[in-house]
This record gives sequence, C-alpha cells and structure tokens, in this order.
Amino acid sequence: MQWFRFSALAGAVALSLAFGTALADSPTSFLDRFNAEARSAGEGPGNAARGQEFFNQTHGNEWKCAACHGAVPTGKAEHAVTHKIIEPMAPAFNAQRFTDPAKVDKWFRRNCKDVLARECTAREKADVLAWLISLK
Ligand code: HEC
Repeated sequence: MQWFRFSALAGAVALSLAFGTALADSPTSFLDRFNAEARSAGEGPGNAARGQEFFNQTHGNEWKCAACHGAVPTGKAEHAVTHKIIEPMAPAFNAQRFTDPAKVDKWFRRNCKDVLARECTAREKADVLAWLISLK
C-alpha cells in the first residue's frame, strides 16, 4: 500500500516533469510558437507596434478586434453584438489569457474569420500577442 502510494506519486511527478512545458503554456510560450511559425514562413518575428495597428483597424469587414476587446485591452470590454462583458485581453491584467492552447487556437480562428474573412497568419498573431504582452 505504502509502496503503491509512493509509486503513484512518483509517477505523477515524472508525468508533470515530462509534460511540464505542455501543461504550463504561457503568453510567452505562445509568442515563441507564433514567432517560430512566422520565421519559417519567412516573415520575421512579431512586432508590438504593428500588433496595435492591426488590432485597431478594420480589415475589409465591419469589425476590428477592438470592437469587442477594446482599443487598449487592459480592462473589461463589451462584445459588439451580444454586449456581454469580455475580460481583459492583456495577460498582465488577466492571468487566464494565453494559457490554454485549445482556447487560443479556437478564438484566433473564429475571430480572425469574423474580422478578416480568413485565418490570421502566424506573424499577425505574433504581432498582436507581442503588443498584448507589452501592455503593463
Ligand atoms: C465579435 C466580437 C469579437 C471580435 C471582433 C474579436 N473577438 Fe476575440 N474574443 C471574443 C470572444 C467572445 C472571446 C471569448 C471570450 C473570452 O475569452 O473572453 C474572444 C477571445 C479571444 C482570444 C482568446 C484568448 C485567451 O487565451 O483567452 C483571442 C486570442 C482573441 N479573442 C483574439 C482576437 C483577435 C486577434 C481579434 C481580431 C482579429 C478578435 N479577437 C476579435 C470576441 C471577439
């Protein structure tokens, strides 16, 4: 029994060590990922100033990112359609942001399609995230 408990604990520790990086996704690990993808597409790393511009411009469709997330997303904002409150996007103001790959990928895909009528490129994601991380 004792041994079983010990080995279960040791197994859990080994697992969390092995998958530590996968479990502990962070805004900077997402930025690293988008930067790497952008580089392999020949498009250099993300740039905060470009991200701010991208976030606050329309791209052919009615909405811009800022329409739902606010022009400077350090505070709560209101969804342009449903008027639901959206929590701050900048990770310094919301510790949940950019920690869950399923959420990050799902919402980038959905929101970029709404705003640009296509998916965002890795460089566009890197630009936006570099800007969001720079907001303190
Ligand atoms: C029509 C409203 C709307 C627009 C426009 C919009 N978003 Fe969102 N966004 C949402 C909602 C709703 C969520 C999910 C609720 C939440 O996470 O607070 C969300 C969540 C996200 C997330 C998830 C982040 C995380 O880890 O929690 C990202 C990334 C994101 N949006 C990026 C963007 C970008 C980039 C644009 C512009 C291309 C954009 N959004 C435009 C409504 C919008």
